[in-house]
Amino acid sequence: MTRSTADQPHEREAGLAAEQRRHWERTYAANPGMYGAEASGPARHAARAFGEAGAHEVLELGAGHGRDALSFARAGFSVLATDFSDVGLAQLRAQAAADGLADLVRTATHDVRTPLPLPDASVDAVYAHMLLCMALSTAEIRALVREVARVLRPGGTFAYTVRHDGDAHYGAGTDRGDDIWEHGGFAVHFFSRALVEELAQGWTLREVHAFEEGELPRRLWRVTQTRP
Ligand SMILES: C[S@@+](CC[C@H](N)C(=O)[O-])C[C@H]1O[C@@H](n2cnc3c(N)ncnc32)[C@H](O)[C@@H]1O
Repeated sequence: MTRSTADQPHEREAGLAAEQRRHWERTYAANPGMYGAEASGPARHAARAFGEAGAHEVLELGAGHGRDALSFARAGFSVLATDFSDVGLAQLRAQAAADGLADLVRTATHDVRTPLPLPDASVDAVYAHMLLCMALSTAEIRALVREVARVLRPGGTFAYTVRHDGDAHYGAGTDRGDDIWEHGGFAVHFFSRALVEELAQGWTLREVHAFEEGELPRRLWRVTQTRP
């Protein structure tokens, strides 16, 4: 029997990612500044942890329209904000200019399924709020965390949040395989605790903190780990 290329796992992943990118572009275009102007709770926590560790340069992955990137800049960090939605990043750049923060915030349109656009050991801290739990396969998540380790300086901090398998939407909607479930057009990879532990191998795991965000509410873990 002939298999179409869409039957291959990597082709299915590429198709889902392209579909999700279009979905995020449309969502930000229709709802400018949709997450609000205030820093999220995890960003406030991360800013304290980054400051205590003496960090200056922060890489944010999946920054969206920048509620957290802008808060890091307001706290005096130099930020590279990345996302695969240039619509979101355009909103971020406009707000940074309006707030007089343009010198502290750079943006790069980047899909985290490809290598990070930075040299080895070049940033002090990496932050990602609800990015690792997007429509990424487990293999893509593992590769991304290896990339984060590569670009962090020794002793650098990685702070991320993910929705987990205790979330109300876990197991609801369309099953996209590999613990990815699509609900209302958004595909989410719900993390198990075992995956969090696996991703911390070779790092020092500082914290796994359960919290809730939004009206559903989304149930998440805030994970902080440092590179040796
Ligand atoms: C749930 S939103 C969170 C946005 C932002 N971190 C916040 O909390 O305000 C997830 C973000 O990840 C981005 N994203 C999803 N998949 C991505 C990928 N493969 N590469 C880069 N960005 C991605 C989306 O465009 C979206 O901005």
